[in-house]
Amino acid sequence: MPSRRPIAQLPDLLISQIAAGEVIERPSSVLKELVENAVDAGSQTIEVRLEAGGIRRIAVIDDGGGIASDELRLALTRHATSKISSLIELESVHSMGFRGEALASIAAVSQLTLTSRTRDASHAWSLEPGVAEPIAAAGALGTTVDVRYLFDTVPARRKFLRSEATEFGHCMDAMDRIALAFPDIGFRVFHNDRAVRQWLPAPALQRISDVLGDDFNEHGIEINAQGGLISLMGVVTRPTASRARADRQFLYVNGRHVRDRTVAHAIRSAYADVLHGDRQPAFVLFLRVDPAAVDVNVHPAKHEVRFRDSGAVHRFVNHTVTQALSGTAGMASGTLAQSSSPFFAATGEASRDAAFAGQPAPYSWQSVVQQPLHLREPGAAPGTFTGAYTGSAGGASSSASSNPALWQSVYEPLNEQAPTWPLGRALAQVHGIYILSQTAKGLALIDMHAAHERVVYEQLKHALDAQTLPQQTLLVPVVFRVTDKELALALECNDQLLELGFEMAAAGPQSMTLRAVPAMLARGDLEALARGVLRDLDQIGASRLLTEQRNTLLATMACHGAVRANRQLSIEEMNALLRQMEQTERADQCNHGRPTWVHWNVSDLDKFFLRGQ
Ligand SMILES: Nc1ncnc2c1ncn2[C@@H]1O[C@H](COP(=O)(O)OP(=O)(O)OP(=O)(O)O)[C@@H](O)[C@H]1O
Ligand SMILES: [Mg+2]
Repeated sequence: MPSRRPIAQLPDLLISQIAAGEVIERPSSVLKELVENAVDAGSQTIEVRLEAGGIRRIAVIDDGGGIASDELRLALTRHATSKISSLIELESVHSMGFRGEALASIAAVSQLTLTSRTRDASHAWSLEPGVAEPIAAAGALGTTVDVRYLFDTVPARRKFLRSEATEFGHCMDAMDRIALAFPDIGFRVFHNDRAVRQWLPAPALQRISDVLGDDFNEHGIEINAQGGLISLMGVVTRPTASRARADRQFLYVNGRHVRDRTVAHAIRSAYADVLHGDRQPAFVLFLRVDPAAVDVNVHPAKHEVRFRDSGAVHRFVNHTVTQALSGTAGMASGTLAQSSSPFFAATGEASRDAAFAGQPAPYSWQSVVQQPLHLREPGAAPGTFTGAYTGSAGGASSSASSNPALWQSVYEPLNEQAPTWPLGRALAQVHGIYILSQTAKGLALIDMHAAHERVVYEQLKHALDAQTLPQQTLLVPVVFRVTDKELALALECNDQLLELGFEMAAAGPQSMTLRAVPAMLARGDLEALARGVLRDLDQIGASRLLTEQRNTLLATMACHGAVRANRQLSIEEMNALLRQMEQTERADQCNHGRPTWVHWNVSDLDKFFLRGQ
């Protein structure tokens, strides 16, 4: 047994450092706490100055009520707050802060200088790190909290910080969340002395546009519902503007940004009938409930709340959002769009995305499938394939398609004397989803997307193993909007992306140019492809991207490169896909483990009709 030490009270600093572990995870958490304090102080304008992604410096300068000089030290003390003084006040708290812990926690893991001037003071007072008493200082009405060298004294934490650009991205995400909730307050953000954001005070809807871009409201439906002590306001976007990621879901409960399962589920089920399972709605919703009916003291960083009657909240939110969505079949009434968007009114979501990115409408299925499929040369021995992804994507395959004679000779063997193909000969496309084919012994039904996805996945894997993954430079680069975090990730992982065939570059503060992609995927929805890859990058992390998690990434790429439902396929294209499946390992299952085809023998069919019984 190791010898036991006597119990001793922990020193104050250590207590604060331990507490900081709960609230202060990275620069963006410091930023959130400081800006919330500035909001609580009644500020009209809040300025944020970041250096090196917030790692070197986070300063928040406000014009709020200030802190009296004799309270400065107290402000940095644990469990000292001006916001509540009793349990009753906690239960009906209106301010963002109430724990009296944020500044103490931050000061314990950084170099914090607090400068403030109240209305009655003739000048400001400043409390510097390591100094017991405040000293007279210059400064306007309001408070400046200047935090430098975060986690310098806590190497274990410091190690977990990502690149400056990534941390900056997190900081901007935090700013977005706060700016959406307080449209009356003006915000200015500087990074390394460069102005990066400026939001003027504005009506709530305008602030949403300012933060999330005009297209958000263009596809939005305004919500404004009141029911006794509960109300829901904000914007939900139409199902057609859904996203692959849940990255534009902003929920506020009494002005506080939270993640809440009850409300998330209520929204999700309102969309259930109109949104495909793996698509994500976008929304900015402000739920207001009687403060006494919600517990905000659930999570140290206040990311969660607990409703006293979560059933009632669920019903209210679900009903309100369902009502709003039920009016979306047409483009008109009750929507935010001033005029209906020509893009998606005409052609649906895919082309709206493309149009948004300054791209022509997406390619027809024809060109989507031709490129990746291997074609058998006339007279070539089975197993010999050409037209594979050898260099320029268009080349080999498009010449094949524009030459009917070639197609014919490729598929001539499919007559009565031909050797039988396991997956048979394609007869027709069914409901834009399946290929119906006649086999030697019966009928097969093939899920074309799942099958093609599998084929592309295996092709990608082999090409990457053999280091022969050809890249195609895009004639018209695709420009698309990204978050700061995505932008930072893409730049940080440039080398890995290049190895995968992607060339991306920053096109502006929140947009990205895609210049080259793996040739075999060049005909798909490139924006969706690039976003899928960035999402994996975020979840997997650069270091494992090309090792343990490589196949996850390839599956994402294949999914976006594979044909979508409702694309018209010619018989030749269907046959080409079947032949490829026969050449692909484990083509019987898609990348998600579901079967890609089913087969009935003629005897099975006979049973349907009670033949021969
Ligand atoms: N920008 C500011 N302007 C005016 N007063 C401030 C400002 N920042 C902090 N204070 C004062 O310092 C106190 C401590 O701030 P701190 O953030 O540590 O705690 P809190 O906001 O009360 O609670 P929480 O830990 O939940 O954030 C606040 O209660 C407030 O009185
Ligand atoms: Mg606070």
